[in-house]
Parts: sequence; C-alpha cells; structure tokens
Amino acid sequence: MVTEASLSTRIMREDGEITPRSARISYFPLVVKSGSGSKLEDVDGKQYIDFLASAAVLNTGHAHPKVVQAIVEQAQELIHYTSGYASHEHQVKLAQELARITPGDFKKRVAFGLSGSDANDGMIKVARAYTGRSKIVSFIQAYHGSTYGSISLSALSLNMRRKIGPLLPDIYHIPYPDCYRCPLGHCQESCSMECLGQLKMAFEHYLPPEEVAAVFMEPIAGDAGIVVPPKKYVQELYNLCQKHGILFVSEEVQQGFGRTGKWFGIEHFDVVPDAIVMAKAIASGMPLSAIVAREEIANFLEAPAHLFTMGGNPISCRAALATIDVIEEEQLVERSAELGQYVRERFEKLQEKYPIIGDVRGLGLSIGVDLVADPVTKERAKDAAAKICYRCWQKGLVLIFLAGCVLRVQPPLVISKEELDQGIAIIEETIKEYLNGEIPDDVLQVVKGW
Ligand SMILES: Cc1ncc(COP(=O)(O)O)c(C=O)c1O
Repeated sequence: MVTEASLSTRIMREDGEITPRSARISYFPLVVKSGSGSKLEDVDGKQYIDFLASAAVLNTGHAHPKVVQAIVEQAQELIHYTSGYASHEHQVKLAQELARITPGDFKKRVAFGLSGSDANDGMIKVARAYTGRSKIVSFIQAYHGSTYGSISLSALSLNMRRKIGPLLPDIYHIPYPDCYRCPLGHCQESCSMECLGQLKMAFEHYLPPEEVAAVFMEPIAGDAGIVVPPKKYVQELYNLCQKHGILFVSEEVQQGFGRTGKWFGIEHFDVVPDAIVMAKAIASGMPLSAIVAREEIANFLEAPAHLFTMGGNPISCRAALATIDVIEEEQLVERSAELGQYVRERFEKLQEKYPIIGDVRGLGLSIGVDLVADPVTKERAKDAAAKICYRCWQKGLVLIFLAGCVLRVQPPLVISKEELDQGIAIIEETIKEYLNGEIPDDVLQVVKGW
C-alpha cells in the first residue's frame, strides 16, 4: 500500500483534484517517473516489471536507445512544421516504410494523424466517401477510441456513450466471434458460426449490404478481453465483404507492429485488408497514427478533408522509423511469436493447478488470462481480477485486467525470459494469496477497471 508520506500519494491526491474522472480508468495509484526496457520506476523509486507496456504502446520497450537518439536528433533539427502545408523527408520515408511492411501487393497511400481515435475517424470518412455508402459495421465490446467517430464505432462501455449523443448514425454492431464465451451459447462442437449468420441475416432483412461502406474488425478483440477469432470466421467475413463491395478494415491500433507475432495481426488470417488503421506502438510512445489503404481509397477525398496541424510530426516520424529499424534488427516480430508461445504454455500449466484460470488465449505477446468464479459457468471473477492486479502492483508488477476479469499480458516485445518468469511468478504467488483470502476487500474501493 502506498504510504501517506510518499510522493506518489501526494501526486495522486492532487491529480484526483484536477484531472476529470472521464480521463483515467482506476486500477492502482501508479505515478510513473522513468522507464528502461521492460522496467518502470515510480516517483518513489519503486521498480516494476511492465506487463502493460503503456497499453501496447511500448513494443520496443521504454526508452530504446535508438528511438531516443532519433527523437533527440530530430528535436535539435526541427520539432515541427505542419504537413498540412509542407512535406518533410521523414514523413515520406515513413509512409513508404509503412506501405512496405503492411500486407497487400498493391499501391497504397498513407495518411497520418496523432491517435488511434483520429485514424478511425479518418477511416470512417474515407470509407463513406469512397464507397458512396453510409453504413458501417463494427463489433460489440470493441473499443476504437474517444472521438465522436471512434466512440460511435465502439460498443464496450455505456459510460462512453451516455449523455453525449447523438453519436454518428448508421453504425451497426455485431457480436465478435468469442469461442470461449460464445454470445450465442455455442461450444466448439456445436458451432456453425451463427455469429456470422447474424450478419448474413441482417443483410437479408434490415441492413442492405449495398449500403454498407466498411467493416471495422480488430484481428484480436483487445479491450474485449484479448479474444482471438477463428480463422474461418475472418476469412468468411472477408469474402462476404468482397461479395458486397464492402471495405474490410483491419483495426490494428492495439494489435499491430509485431504485438501478435506478425507485423500486423490480420496476417494470421491470410486475408489482405483494404486498409489498416494503426497507432500506439508505431512511434514507441510519440503520438502518431496512420491509415494505410489502397491508393484509390486513401486518395479519394480532397484537401482539407483529413489533415491535422500536428499530423506526421517529424519527431514522431523519426521515432517511428527508428521503431521499424529496432523491430527488424532485434527480430521483435519473431521474438513476440516465440515468447508468446512460452508465456501461454506457462499460464496453461498454471491453469492445471488453479481452476480460477478459465482460459488462456492470444497470439504472440498479446495474451489474455481469463479468470472465472466457476470454470463450468465461466462467470467472470471480477473481484479476483481486481484484487490480483492490485496486489501484483504492490509486489512490483504492472498488470491490468480487461472485460472485468481478463488479465492483460502485453509486455514490451524486448522483455527477457527472466523478466517474464519473474512476472508470472508474482502472478502465481498473488493468485495463491487471493485464494487464501489474504487480499482485503478495501482494495476494491480503488480498483475499478474496465
Ligand atoms: C483497438 C484500439 N483502437 C483504438 C484505440 C484508441 O487509440 P488512442 O487512444 O490512441 O486514440 C485504442 C486504445 O486503447 C485501441 O485499443
């Protein structure tokens, strides 16, 4: 527990008096100061292993020396000049690099912004304009961001949608194919992809497919609890889109840039999307987003339909170029796949010992550990997740949960096996403490979570 005298306590108290409630999801009173690789330090000098990586932003780790060097060099040369009126070399080079590393053997164009939210907004605009259609399909429990467009795409939290309407019209949400907690009550044996059937039924009865501009899908539903869809589902959905002239947009803000053991998550499914929306990890913590789309789509609107004064900031672009170099030089995509496999196996072993672990899933180092009150009913163990994450934080592991009960294991891709082992050991120790009733209920006053 943070003591009253600590700097963290004072800053958290002042923070609580000045920051609006809407701006932070409460897990634990962490006041960060510095970071290196997979380690974080708070303002009181306490060290942590970081299993959150700033919400899947720091794939290259905290303060990777090559990224830092690129940022410093660029800051000394030019901090910013708006790409709304001028070009700069690094933005052009980065756009070419993003076109190179994204799937699709066709001509692409790249539009830059600052956040995942604005990239999703831009993609809605361009999809509507290009297709001449207004309707958009996205998924229940998806989080796509905090601007009006991206909130309208999202369907995860009533707090995001309450009191602010009207949202964007013509956005339809369908169930994500969640094979552990099938929203339609099926198990693998009885599954004939009724979830996709719901979209087909919608196309027959109330959602004219020729009026649908795009489907936005995360290749793993991140904030829904790291849910991996069946390959067959993604392929059939893609084919359905092709059949009806609907754009398939892979929303990779959280899952892109090596996180899943491929450059982009959609590559696991052998489909080539019309567009990829990315942000978070692309500049290792500098604000940057990008829409990478087929040329004819991305180039459809006229200026100034989608530009930002600060979009494509030179420091962010240099950081992104350095990020790509680091990922390639240190083979972080392969490393993510390898370490992800290792971590999943470690948690599967724990699952045999602790029935509170209902499911272990993920791709690469994007892993969800689903805690259940009962392995048969799969009732979400919300208090357990809250108490375990809080106690892990006390023990020096930054870990949060999603969807009420899913431990989010998304460390930097540079993390060492030893650090992973240390983190997993803390989680096991904490599960035992939880099961022995050693974590007090008052923790639940602090931890709110998603
Ligand atoms: C899948 C996904 N899309 C979009 C966003 C929004 O990105 P940003 O917070 O950079 O606007 C997030 C952020 O958590 C995300 O996880």
